[in-house]
Amino acid sequence: MTFQEHTPTIQLGQDGPEIQPLGIGTRTWGYGEDAADSNRRDAFTASLNAGVTLFDTAEIYAMGKSEKLLGSFMNGKENEVFVMTKYAPFPWRFGRQNLIKALRRSLQRLSIDQVDLYMIHWPYTLTSIETLMAGLADAVEAGLTKTVGVSNFSPAQMQRAYDYLAKRDIPLASNQVAFSLLKRDSETNGLLDLCHQMDVKLVAYAPLASGLLTGKFTIDQPPRGILGLRRGKRSIARMQPLLIQLREIGEAHEGKTPGQVALNWVIAKGAIPIPGAKDAKQAEENVGALGWSLTEVEVSSLDATAQTE
Ligand SMILES: NC(=O)c1ccc[n+]([C@@H]2O[C@H](COP(=O)([O-])OP(=O)(O)OC[C@H]3O[C@@H](n4cnc5c(N)ncnc54)[C@H](OP(=O)(O)O)[C@@H]3O)[C@@H](O)[C@H]2O)c1
Repeated sequence: MTFQEHTPTIQLGQDGPEIQPLGIGTRTWGYGEDAADSNRRDAFTASLNAGVTLFDTAEIYAMGKSEKLLGSFMNGKENEVFVMTKYAPFPWRFGRQNLIKALRRSLQRLSIDQVDLYMIHWPYTLTSIETLMAGLADAVEAGLTKTVGVSNFSPAQMQRAYDYLAKRDIPLASNQVAFSLLKRDSETNGLLDLCHQMDVKLVAYAPLASGLLTGKFTIDQPPRGILGLRRGKRSIARMQPLLIQLREIGEAHEGKTPGQVALNWVIAKGAIPIPGAKDAKQAEENVGALGWSLTEVEVSSLDATAQTE
């Protein structure tokens, strides 16, 4: 049985296409040499071949190059891909007209006439939430995006966005926030429950906690760079019980990897993980989070172990 038959598909946005409850994040696309771009193309192709059609990008990723790459990879396959991208509400971008201008530039880079979902990247700005939502609503009415969403919005901010859009008869499709076994504020601050109540999809970014939940880092080989500064040896040592459990549960599901179990946990919570993938190997592994389900007991026991991390 393929995962297409096994995992229930979801609809992201009113009248949106049925898609798999997992996407691919492209935040790192556009950095590095040409060889890196070719790896990103392989990640794109591997995802699409496996039936994963949802791609997340933003105008600020690699200063637009992530959108450009996605646009060039889609060439001829635009109808198969669900594209979501984001508006950066910099403090110097006043008013709603800036949003439309930025979206037109994103569409140019993506080489398409309309995106599937357009989001406000973050709420910290001098422009009011209502003005930002007015810009999103204008974008829908101008046919530049099919649906709209927000990102990094708290429950109260999301409610304001939802209420404004409802007055224009436009549903809020999603709120994209950090959510993983190692970052669970959305469960404790009521955001996940509110999303379920309002039928707003919670799109989970950093669902692998930047690779930590794949189990590839060890006490002897901790992460380097910025991630290493945040998560050094001690932190890796503290997360060992969780990694051991991810491995054990994965083995009970025909050898699923810790990362696949961590992504399946996000799906079990009713959220849509968008793990970043840099090459075909990572994309194929991440797609292996589909087509099977953790039991309720496994989800509760991961909840309990992650709590103590
Ligand atoms: N809305 C927002 O504010 C916001 C913020 C951040 C991210 N995002 C979105 O969410 C997406 C995902 O977040 P993220 O990239 O920060 O974190 P993530 O998905 O938790 O981690 C992705 C990183 O983990 C590693 N990885 C991925 N799959 C792997 C595998 N199968 N095996 C081993 N390593 C693997 C890769 O890094 P290495 O190969 O370098 O280890 C990859 O770049 C982004 O691409 C972006 O689209 C949105």
